[in-house]
Amino acid sequence: MKKIKIISVVGARPNFMKVAPLEREFAKLPHIFEHLICHTGQHYDYEMSQSFFDDLGLSKPSFYLGAGSGSHGEQTGKILIEFEKVCQTAKPDLVIVVGDVNSTIAATLVAVKMGIKTAHIEAGLRSFDRTMPEEINRIATDSICDYFFVTEESGVKNLLREGRSPEKIFFVGNTMIDSLIGILPKIDKSKILENLNISPKTFALMTLHRPSNVDSKKQLSKIVEIIRFIAEKITIVFPIHPRTKKNLEKLSLLSELEEIPNLIQTEPLGYIDFIKLMKNSRFVITDSGGIQEETTFLQIPCLTLRTTTERPITTEIGTNRLVPPVKEKIIEAIIETLNQPNVESAIPPLWDGKTAERIVNIIANVIFKNRINK
Ligand code: UD1
Repeated sequence: MKKIKIISVVGARPNFMKVAPLEREFAKLPHIFEHLICHTGQHYDYEMSQSFFDDLGLSKPSFYLGAGSGSHGEQTGKILIEFEKVCQTAKPDLVIVVGDVNSTIAATLVAVKMGIKTAHIEAGLRSFDRTMPEEINRIATDSICDYFFVTEESGVKNLLREGRSPEKIFFVGNTMIDSLIGILPKIDKSKILENLNISPKTFALMTLHRPSNVDSKKQLSKIVEIIRFIAEKITIVFPIHPRTKKNLEKLSLLSELEEIPNLIQTEPLGYIDFIKLMKNSRFVITDSGGIQEETTFLQIPCLTLRTTTERPITTEIGTNRLVPPVKEKIIEAIIETLNQPNVESAIPPLWDGKTAERIVNIIANVIFKNRINK
């Protein structure tokens, strides 16, 4: 019987850990699947891309689209043009897209219009904030794609409310957590704590890159002021995302940041080093999506500098807390977190390291009808 040909599309940093566990599961069934990776090139710096392939053991992409940076239109447009060519020549039976980045919506548009079955991993998440580019990507992707693999129950509810049919929705858990569970035994080899000269639980780990926090001078200056305050209470480790770095430079705020004592700035870090830092931090401050989930799994307190989250399970039962990016609110939250380091929390259902296995079984036996037993 002909193999099922699948192309998984990755583009930006948070995509790689969502696809790596799938690649491993597909590889266990080589008689059923031919699985190929297409990298759009949305992220291209070594630290933002290749280092994740290395840490996760992801194989070299079969297709590299070289989309690079640009406005939303430019970036999405380049991926549309190039991914269509890939689908025309490779003729996949299924395209898998993950997350909510521009690569996700671009690849979905191409595949669906070519009549190729398309599955979205991490479907159904909604922040209900349409000023976030990711929210538009999520809504648009889910409104046209064929199959929905969901990480938390809110995603199922959102998809049903938006009229998606229940038999196309699969609540399977979180492939990002599969990767996290897989990497934990390897973090011992990371020397990042020694390299930064810090001891476990004596520092806060911070990441910030959302346009709403880092694109305007007004907000970014406030963020620098907030960082100065936090650094008076605890050492901060801050791996700076290229978007944030460029804006700090452009808005002449970098030297101000560099003068803050107790602030350790680094380049964007690889996956193993970053998870080592997260696991050993006293708490995390972030505006990322995935980090809210990783801290919930590791049961590390997380202060998310946003007013909404598309991942409500992390605040309902996990360690995540939304803090509006306003000085007084952040100060209050930091003081509370320092005084009460142990938050009572639970790990969300099906975040058990077996999500990719469930997804691959569904693809083989439901989407392509009983292939594992044939
Ligand atoms: C993208 C995703 C965001 C995700 C984030 C993770 C969209 C709309 N946004 O945001 O959801 O949370 O990735 O990192 O898809 N740059 C580099 N090197 C790189 C990549 C980017 O220097 O390898 C710089 C460029 O100046 C670029 C800027 O960072 O213009 C932003 O990159 P872009 O891919 O547009 O969005 P992110 O902010 O990274």
